[in-house]
Amino acid sequence: MPAAVPAREAAMTQQAVTVLVPEHPAAGEKPARTSTTCWTQHTHHERDDSTMTGRVEGKVAFITGAARGQGRSHALTLAREGADIIAVDLCAQIGSVPYPMATQEDLAQTVKEVEATGRRIVATVADVRDYDALKQALDEGVAQLGRLDIVSANAGITSYGRAEDLAEQTWRDMIDVDLTGEWQPPRPRSRTCGPPGAAGRSS
Ligand SMILES: NC(=O)c1ccc[n+]([C@@H]2O[C@H](COP(=O)([O-])OP(=O)(O)OC[C@H]3O[C@@H](n4cnc5c(N)ncnc54)[C@H](O)[C@@H]3O)[C@@H](O)[C@H]2O)c1
Repeated sequence: MPAAVPAREAAMTQQAVTVLVPEHPAAGEKPARTSTTCWTQHTHHERDDSTMTGRVEGKVAFITGAARGQGRSHALTLAREGADIIAVDLCAQIGSVPYPMATQEDLAQTVKEVEATGRRIVATVADVRDYDALKQALDEGVAQLGRLDIVSANAGITSYGRAEDLAEQTWRDMIDVDLTGEWQPPRPRSRTCGPPGAAGRSS
């Protein structure tokens, strides 16, 4: 009988190639780390960024709706993983949206936090419904940062109510931002980078 395999190790082949296998620690125990492990059980505030691994080192990511929330989070995570950022946000209120939307101060905060990671960011106020404005922001970012690898079509709005009760403008604003605004960002990207396939897209 072979000796028991240590909990964090698994022999992969008879040539004794050993792979470290992350294992969730017991409650309260600080996890051991490998150079390629990001412990997903950490909450956002607890996460130790020394585990970041440069998975997108040298790449450039285009992120819409980057002033706050998930867009800022995407920008910071990608920057910590080595990417430079092209950020856009409307930074203004859309009349039918029933909550306060992001501001220029929010976008400035994203810029500050990305720069604190040591990465570069080109941030522009632009509306994802406006193809020309979006393309201009992207072109300026690519001119400064040199390339484009990742597109995160994240900008979005929400309104509430039964479909039959929604005002027509509320419906149109959601369709324009959440559908047209998701379709727009990859369009200038494909013209900048050539054939599709090299870049991911998320929403
Ligand atoms: N947070 C959640 O739990 C959740 C769940 C499902 C889907 N989503 C979607 O994920 C996206 C981000 O969510 P969030 O919670 O970070 O929302 P958020 O409101 O905090 O952020 C959205 C950002 O998009 C920007 N934006 C809105 N319209 C824009 C436009 N026309 N042009 C440019 N920027 C615009 C806003 O200014 C804001 O900064 C949204 O599309 C949202 O609908 C969020």
